[in-house]
Amino acid sequence: MAQIMDVNEIKVIDKTVKGWLKESRDNVLRKIDTRLTVNTKSGRTDLVTNIDKQNEKFLVSKIREFDPASRILGEEGSGDDVTTTIGRVWIIDPIDGTMNFVKQRNHFAIMLALYVDGEGVLGYILDVTGNHLLSGGPQIGVFDNGQPLTKVADTPLREGLMGLSGPMVLHNDYNMVDIANQSLGMRVYGSAGIDIISVLRGELVGYISYLKPWDFGAGKILCETAGMMVTTIDGKPLGMLSSTTVLLATRRHIETFLQL
Ligand code: IPD
Ligand code: CA
Ligand code: CA
Repeated sequence: MAQIMDVNEIKVIDKTVKGWLKESRDNVLRKIDTRLTVNTKSGRTDLVTNIDKQNEKFLVSKIREFDPASRILGEEGSGDDVTTTIGRVWIIDPIDGTMNFVKQRNHFAIMLALYVDGEGVLGYILDVTGNHLLSGGPQIGVFDNGQPLTKVADTPLREGLMGLSGPMVLHNDYNMVDIANQSLGMRVYGSAGIDIISVLRGELVGYISYLKPWDFGAGKILCETAGMMVTTIDGKPLGMLSSTTVLLATRRHIETFLQL
């Protein structure tokens, strides 16, 4: 990747973002047992709560203060109308796994990413209740709660657990049932962020889902920096501003999925 930002500048941004995320986590945890206002978006399983909206507004206000010239793509609409990848673009998923948040008050993430001219610079996935932060980018590496990530295990599909999207398995999209059968078992976590953390930590051999930019923005940066491949399910590059199938696996094993 071209050197698009000075590494010292990136480290300053990294420290600043970690401060926002700590505050954001504290805010969410403070309200985790309160009565939520829950609304549906595209259908009865696509939820948004008052906490999703508040957390997005909180992160947007921090970004605006710190980096006023940038643009913000936020899932819940409090950012900008971003139609190009030119310049600095921040991508926010204020609560990833809102269904889990509503029904379990557990197993959800806060995700943030910074792209410059379409190139990933920094990505963050915070497992809120597990207090687990995966962070970093191509110029500084990937960190697991502040410690350099150990190399992602290169386990074949037949010897590992595979993270899949529930609806895609139910409809057997792209031979998803075959993929599940070839693995040692499928896991459907209900939060792209939690799935991607699990892949980075070697608990899953890969992950396939149909995702929006805020679902994969941070994970793409972290996985690619960790040496993995992130493509559409037919092996094409992801469009940063479009909804798409996403396949995330190690370089050595991505072919297995593309052949299935
Ligand atoms: C959802 C979760 C889920 C994935 C959906 C996403 P949200 O995010 O990541 O795991 O399968 O496609 O929309 O809406 O809870 O932020
Ligand atoms: Ca999401
Ligand atoms: Ca969300």
